[in-house]
Amino acid sequence: MDKLAIIGGRPLYGEIPISGAKNSALKVMAASLLCEEALTLTNVPRLADVDMLLRLLEQHGVEAMFEGSTLSLTAGTITSTEAPYDLVRKMRASFNVLGPLLAREGKAKVSLPGGCAIGARPVDLHLKALEAMGAKIELDEGYVFAEAPGGLKGAVVSLPFVSVGATEHTMLAAVLAKGATTIENAAREPEITDLANCLNAMGAKVSNAGQATITIEGVDRLHGASHAVLPDRIETGAYVMAVGATGGELTLTGTDASLLGAALPVLEEAGLIIENGENMLRVKQPRERCKAVNIVTQPFPGFPTDLQAQFMALMTTADGVSTIKETIFENRFMHAPELSRMGAKISVDGQTATVRGVERLKGAPVMATDLRASMSLVIAGLCAEGQTMVNRVYHLDRGFERLEEKLQNCGALIERVKD
Ligand code: UD1
Repeated sequence: MDKLAIIGGRPLYGEIPISGAKNSALKVMAASLLCEEALTLTNVPRLADVDMLLRLLEQHGVEAMFEGSTLSLTAGTITSTEAPYDLVRKMRASFNVLGPLLAREGKAKVSLPGGCAIGARPVDLHLKALEAMGAKIELDEGYVFAEAPGGLKGAVVSLPFVSVGATEHTMLAAVLAKGATTIENAAREPEITDLANCLNAMGAKVSNAGQATITIEGVDRLHGASHAVLPDRIETGAYVMAVGATGGELTLTGTDASLLGAALPVLEEAGLIIENGENMLRVKQPRERCKAVNIVTQPFPGFPTDLQAQFMALMTTADGVSTIKETIFENRFMHAPELSRMGAKISVDGQTATVRGVERLKGAPVMATDLRASMSLVIAGLCAEGQTMVNRVYHLDRGFERLEEKLQNCGALIERVKD
């Protein structure tokens, strides 16, 4: 398995192009199953997760053409309504093919998902939403067997707590249902709005995406369309935090500071200077060390759980004590013991981590356990003294496009070591 060798202690200077959002690309790709004509997506990141979903879609009969960051998907005929274990287990977002297959073909057999090891992450809300729309669902041998012979029907789907995946899955199924669907307590992440924009470009009638109540008027069929995937706000935030940890100044292009939501004022409070421009932002770290700031992860517009690990890396060398509370996933501090191996002072009590900033981290061999945790170790490695070896780089390949190249171009000493 590949590793990343990082020699820390160099400030970052230069320009980094931000890729399209992985979490959005995966959902709009699933939308291609909903119509016979071509869906052309631009700004698609070339990532292992995208390739994995592509393989699954091809297995359902989708014809794909990937050139640069433009991906064209045509689901002329669905040749299989089964999503096998081997293609679904590695990535939870693959599960989102269930809704579109059911909506278009009236049946589907989809393996229960896998994904990052950050908690139980069940799919009960997804299944309840589909049942509310009239699907008959059975679970057997690790598979979901779903049927809706007469088609799905519009329904009121009231989520007991905010779920990004369940909101998106409901949208993907409801666009072809008979009648109107209302999603109450819907997730408001920018990726939800991006999916709605893509579906609407295909002829769907989705209103109020980005708000807590979304309405979807079902239509008989969707048509081909083009859609540009929105910039990756997690990649954006991660590079902003990298500058916070190492010092220096970066220009991030193809992105926008407004996508950072609640992370923006937190990072400014920590001492970073962030200037927003047109389709770019500039970030600088004028102080030797950041200031400690407390955060609580929340659904959007709150501080994103997907930036919690990277923020913890930033706080390890901050001036003062910060508390980090994780409210979305029950097991998302696996990076804390790894950061401690590098000299960080972190204590975890249930869902709260307390980080006492130290002057300097020291490089060490560390192991990443999930995608965002891996990025937190990279940030720590970039500011630590000496060499850090980040193991299990495949996690990073799932979610950060051309990571080493982007950082090398800005002066970082980071190299992939092939096994
Ligand atoms: C998505 C993102 C992920 C991000 C998360 C929260 C993708 C591919 N992944 O994940 O990067 O960290 O949003 O912003 O877009 N839950 C249930 N039952 C369900 C569904 C969810 O109990 O049926 C729980 C989860 O275990 C979790 C919470 O709800 O504790 C929120 O999860 P959710 O918002 O659904 O996250 P994902 O869509 O899986």
